[in-house]
Amino acid sequence: MPQIPGNAVGARFTGWGRALPPKVLTNHDLEGMFETSDQWIRERTGIERRHVGGTTAGLSIESGGLALGMAGVDPLDIDALVLSTSTPDRTVPATSATVQHGLGLKCGAFDVNAACSGFVYATVVAHGLIAMGARKVLLIGTDTLSRITDWDDRNTAILFADGSGAAVLEATDGPGQLLGWDIDSDGSAEELLFCEVGGTIHMDGKEVFRRAVRIMVDSAKKSMAIAGVTADDIALVVPHQANIRIISAACDRLGVPMERAAVCIHETGNTSSASIPLALFEAADQGRLSAGDLVLLVGFGAGMTAASVIIRWGV
Ligand code: COA
Repeated sequence: MPQIPGNAVGARFTGWGRALPPKVLTNHDLEGMFETSDQWIRERTGIERRHVGGTTAGLSIESGGLALGMAGVDPLDIDALVLSTSTPDRTVPATSATVQHGLGLKCGAFDVNAACSGFVYATVVAHGLIAMGARKVLLIGTDTLSRITDWDDRNTAILFADGSGAAVLEATDGPGQLLGWDIDSDGSAEELLFCEVGGTIHMDGKEVFRRAVRIMVDSAKKSMAIAGVTADDIALVVPHQANIRIISAACDRLGVPMERAAVCIHETGNTSSASIPLALFEAADQGRLSAGDLVLLVGFGAGMTAASVIIRWGV
């Protein structure tokens, strides 16, 4: 991926929000649905419970409203809405149309679908919009995977869940937060993880696992090279929350200790587009980030896609 031109208009996150549906499904609840155990799910995935319910638009309006409130931005001042989701409420129109109306925005709105890499893709797109003259962009990552999960399939039903994370991205006078970025896709791996229109998710879990670690690490290394930083410089890695063993193996290969990873998978399961913003903004809300810290966001997903960005927090 190219270097970011030195004269590009910079941007930074000025507000964020998180939303999870109130209904919680624990591993013990799943024990009553198919043959599995709390212990197996914890050991193999790191997941203890997950939230399910709601619609993609509803969760997006909730997280987006919180982000606008924190940033203190009038909805009428937002120049564009970018919604990352692979579980739109309707095929047409894009769910961003519903969200735009629900939040009282008057601006262009569109969905991005890059599966679980989607929020990082959308982050790159949003920075691009600012580089081209937009001043304020609302960026949301939401998925309601419970609606496309086969609840009789123990291979997938233990993993997937619902949630949303949102951020207001505003133009700045300085260089901004984005130091490096990478987006990748390998469509030859499509059959490893897919959902037909109106269907449920099919997954070759073992092969997805094997490739996930490699493509996350590759993407992260590309972004770090563009940013001119090394793993030692990264204060916080925010990986896609798919499986704690994938996170741990990726951190290991990158040379980043797990203490420097943001992890919320035990509470959320795999929420696809929402997983990275949920983990990032939880870490921010917990005071784990200081101004100037380097943060690596890195995702992978169906496609198979991978994406990463290096951002300098709070500049
Ligand atoms: N509960 C209990 N046992 C289960 C089970 C469950 N939910 N699911 C599978 N098993 C069994 C298998 O049948 C198998 O039994 P066997 O040895 O008698 O054949 C055994 O547990 C091991 O199964 P395996 O598929 O090898 O487990 P795994 O360690 O690969 O874990 C996943 C399975 C799905 C958790 C793991 O492969 C994974 O997370 N893959 C990546 C998926 C992913 O990230 N998808 C989203 C991408 S965005």
